[in-house]
Amino acid sequence: MSKTFKIAALAGDGIGPEVMREAIKVLRAVEKKFALSFQITEAPVGWAGIDAAGKALPDATLALCQQSDAILFGSVGLPDRDPTIPKEQRPERAALLRIRKEFGLFANLRPVQLPKALAHSCPLRPERQGDGIDILVVRELTGGMYFGQPKKTEEIPGGHRAIDTMVYTTPEIERIAHVAFKAARLRRKKLCSIDKANVLENGVLWRDVVTRIGKDYADVTLEHMFVDNGAMQLMLRPTQFDVMLCENMFGDILSDEAAALAGSLGMLPSASLGTTSGERTFGFFEPAGGTAPDIAGKNLANPIAQILSTALMLRYSFGLNDAAAAIETAVAKAIAQGLRTGDIYTPADPTAKKVGTREMGDAIAAAV
Ligand code: IPM
Ligand code: MG
Repeated sequence: MSKTFKIAALAGDGIGPEVMREAIKVLRAVEKKFALSFQITEAPVGWAGIDAAGKALPDATLALCQQSDAILFGSVGLPDRDPTIPKEQRPERAALLRIRKEFGLFANLRPVQLPKALAHSCPLRPERQGDGIDILVVRELTGGMYFGQPKKTEEIPGGHRAIDTMVYTTPEIERIAHVAFKAARLRRKKLCSIDKANVLENGVLWRDVVTRIGKDYADVTLEHMFVDNGAMQLMLRPTQFDVMLCENMFGDILSDEAAALAGSLGMLPSASLGTTSGERTFGFFEPAGGTAPDIAGKNLANPIAQILSTALMLRYSFGLNDAAAAIETAVAKAIAQGLRTGDIYTPADPTAKKVGTREMGDAIAAAV
């Protein structure tokens, strides 16, 4: 056995634990096939962390993350329980955003692909789907309105005043632009940078910096688009996009929109990466969908986003390209076999077979 890779597995809330179970099953299959060694340690986060240790990100969980090579994350947040604690302590801010900031995970990659076999789950008419939808959303993850200061709600006569601040600096835009251009080079060499330069100071700076960085990547075609138009173009002609580069908030919104094109949010994995030091790129890998409390614990959730997130982990943090590809091929195989969780099932497809979370995980693990 070669190197042991240390993975912190934080399943979180809602459907998190059941999709994480399937992802670990698949990782164990990969371990056997490729003679690798994964040291997977599970720890509570989110409401599970609050229940276990009084905090959304318990100290022991944070320490585990610091000692690991990568974090495999499920999802956090149970809106029903939100009113019971102050907003700063809720899992979204106290765990998810805190981890992003703590580990400097500024680059969020969300690959959206509509497999041919799932064409019917796409809400667009077939003629709008062209030869297939294949978009990489590159989202800046540690800046913008999510983190800008001041951020507060104050009392004023007649009510309150809520303030969020959108801030970006040149270096923050430069580093995410490099990530996006490099990713485009490995794909169809087209980059569409999203901004709101017609209204926002941030948008003007964003456009200037991306344009300047683009001069280093003459082989990549750069286009700029206002975010409102970008949202519309995704619906009208999604096949025009290869890589979409977005600031934090715009990327949050457009990546959900793009995911819907791929059939289901349950299919969308994501990788959040920091700076590479030496050979090591610390990363955080999570499905882009949420905790889906309505279907939690019922063996209904689609585990594919979580499983594809492990593939991204193998590729980006561990450099295990063959193992990553094996997972992606196994997912494609399960889909080709007609296996469908409820979110991607349609009775209109005669070859489709409705399965649960576990059965989908079993089939993918077996295909590996
Ligand atoms: C996402 C999620 C998070 C975000 C929430 C849960 C804080 O929507 O990862 O896209 O807004 O970044
Ligand atoms: Mg989101």
